Amino acid sequence: MWWPPFLLLILIVTTGTASLLQPDNIFSAGRIEYRKLLVDAKSASLYVGARDHIFRLWIYNVNDTSSESLYTDRELKGDPEETAECERSGNSPSECASWLRLLFVQSDGSLLACTTQAMRPHIAKLDALTMRDREIPQSIIGVCSPHHNLNTTAVFVEFGNPDGLPTIYSGIRTGLSLENHLIYRPPLVFNNKEVHSSMRTIYTDSKWLNEPQFVGSYEVGQYVYFFFRELAVEFENCGRTVYSRVARICKNDLGGKNVLRQVFTSYVKARLNCSISSQFPFYFDHIQSVYKVASESDTFFYASFSTADSPFVASAVCHFSLNNINRLFDTGLFSEQPSVTSAWIQTPPEQVPNNRPGQCVSDSRHTSDADLHFAKSHLLMVDSVPGGEPIIHQRDVQFSTILVDKIDNKHVIFVYVPSRSEILKIAHWRESGSSVKSFHLSNLKLPFSDKVFDISLLSNEYLFVADEARVSQYRVSQCEAHYDCRRCAFDPYCSWNIARAMCFTKEAIHSTAVGWIPDANSADRCSSQAKSTDVKIYPGDATHLRCNSEASSWTFEKEPIEQNERLISTVGGGLVLMNATVTDSGVYRCQASDGTPIVEYRLIVDGENCAQPRTLDQFRSVQREWCKKYDNYKESLSKWQNWHERNSHCPRVPEQFKAGKLNSNVVI
Ligand SMILES: *[C@@H]1O[C@H](CO)[C@@H](O)[C@H](O)[C@H]1NC(C)=O
Ligand SMILES: *[C@@H]1O[C@H](CO)[C@@H](O)[C@H](O)[C@H]1NC(C)=O
Ligand SMILES: *[C@@H]1O[C@H](CO)[C@@H](O)[C@H](O)[C@H]1NC(C)=O
Ligand SMILES: *[C@@H]1O[C@H](CO)[C@@H](O)[C@H](O)[C@H]1NC(C)=O
Repeated sequence: MWWPPFLLLILIVTTGTASLLQPDNIFSAGRIEYRKLLVDAKSASLYVGARDHIFRLWIYNVNDTSSESLYTDRELKGDPEETAECERSGNSPSECASWLRLLFVQSDGSLLACTTQAMRPHIAKLDALTMRDREIPQSIIGVCSPHHNLNTTAVFVEFGNPDGLPTIYSGIRTGLSLENHLIYRPPLVFNNKEVHSSMRTIYTDSKWLNEPQFVGSYEVGQYVYFFFRELAVEFENCGRTVYSRVARICKNDLGGKNVLRQVFTSYVKARLNCSISSQFPFYFDHIQSVYKVASESDTFFYASFSTADSPFVASAVCHFSLNNINRLFDTGLFSEQPSVTSAWIQTPPEQVPNNRPGQCVSDSRHTSDADLHFAKSHLLMVDSVPGGEPIIHQRDVQFSTILVDKIDNKHVIFVYVPSRSEILKIAHWRESGSSVKSFHLSNLKLPFSDKVFDISLLSNEYLFVADEARVSQYRVSQCEAHYDCRRCAFDPYCSWNIARAMCFTKEAIHSTAVGWIPDANSADRCSSQAKSTDVKIYPGDATHLRCNSEASSWTFEKEPIEQNERLISTVGGGLVLMNATVTDSGVYRCQASDGTPIVEYRLIVDGENCAQPRTLDQFRSVQREWCKKYDNYKESLSKWQNWHERNSHCPRVPEQFKAGKLNSNVVI
């Protein structure tokens, strides 16, 4: 079977420049949908929620379940009667099982868990080691959703609430047909006594929340922040336009006395602007995931976005400064809609009361009715929060989960792309002055194709991926994925060894030791470090010269390469040579846009027709070489077949390698 060149080309191009991840460890207790992960670095635990179970795993090896100090399996038992009742009301057995929805670590080391038991959520306080109940679980509404496909969010806030009572804030949907969208705080309880009643946003007013999809929530200082996308009320259009938002409320909010009773009086929100700037900016309006990173002077929210779910979806990553968000809420202009049918306008600043909406006051119940009436209809800011130029944007893909690690003042962003089962790895940092730089380091391909539910990060150590069948553990560094010096030097986890021309996990000693290029500052020294590789092929063969750099160009014997039907560059920056001839032999060099060499290949097209290996061992050895070079056995097989057909006139080809007998001999 000889695969035509165009097919080979498609195989090569679509396998792109992703490098396949090898899990360091895997945990599985059956195919029970590992849906929720929580990393607790302090106790070196990874908590995992799956169908009818919560597991505590050892964070440095999730496969080590040998001792009680490293591993706990807490079974979540639903009442059989209630489970049957749940299924009788038309819910699936999966929905009626017990699932961990929310899990928080409290400062005393105990866990706060919200679990669904036959769709009757309960909140429980668990011992962090044994995971036994510390208190009798209480049934609770509005905090965690009984439905697992809803995009809800929640944050546990231990300090700063009225009377210092810990509580959860949630962004959730309730009601018989899930028609109510709200941000909610359950009653504050002390010694089993309700001290303050529950608080919420107004769910009957689309100005407050208009069919939102929540993606995240965080507490910082005296505020709680919610990130979501929703139908834009302010955009006059016949279609349904979605905008992304950040909203803020004060932790100490107690609601109004007459107006806004039991309703957050401090709720304000603004649009998140993630766009490619131009005369007509191109907006990514659907936030998908958000991650918080604190630094000395500011806190940043990195978020993944996509365009509307259309066949032409595109995605981007932007980042938002907390200082910018707060400045906008504290000093920006409010917008208002004078009547239901009129357009939205900017509220004249002189009409804003001294007691500005969004400010925290010592007791909101003392705020005047007039000020509360104003706050009720003035909660949307005119301006949007700038997300900067997208750190990365791509066509035809939907980004989902985003995670960010902080290493030596650099941020490493991981973005999950479900359709390709890939995790993009991007370095992002601020240079002296204020210029922001980023570098797309690699695409890491997950080895399993099961649906991924959650991804979690242990800083400078591991990524954990929870899917339908398992939890798998990967090192964040993955330095061996870097073939070239620059990429390695720009990766904060790695440093380049000059003598061995290889990328290794960074160790402190590398910054002072001779022979290492440890960081981006010394990446200039990479220019003399282009890795040179010998590639030997035969006439008629195709080969893929990888470069792993999108902004690059190729030279052949120092002359720029022009593409033709035999010489094609790939999406990932590589070069494919088809139907090689002896005259294609020579030095191919891939260089960065500034001319810095990245990789170099010395290609030899061996035209000595029959000077090929003759013995079985020699054939196997050549074949192994090919298998190494090619992504999958199909490619190497077709290549082998191709070569075989061309050389079948050569004498003494061992019988086993005649066409049709190849499959049983393939050593992969
Ligand atoms: C997990 O550990 C067991 C022994 O404890 C071992 O047999 C197995 O291969 C390990 N699996 C992985 C994926 O590491
Ligand atoms: C939740 O969000 C995802 C994309 O982020 C979307 O595909 C899905 O439909 C949403 N779920 C619901 C129930 O709306
Ligand atoms: C969003 O940001 C872009 C680029 O900075 C800017 O041109 C545009 O006006 C902003 N749009 C909104 C609605 O603020
Ligand atoms: C490969 O090149 C040879 C001569 O250079 C030509 O005869 C042949 O048709 C080419 N094959 C393909 C598949 O393009």
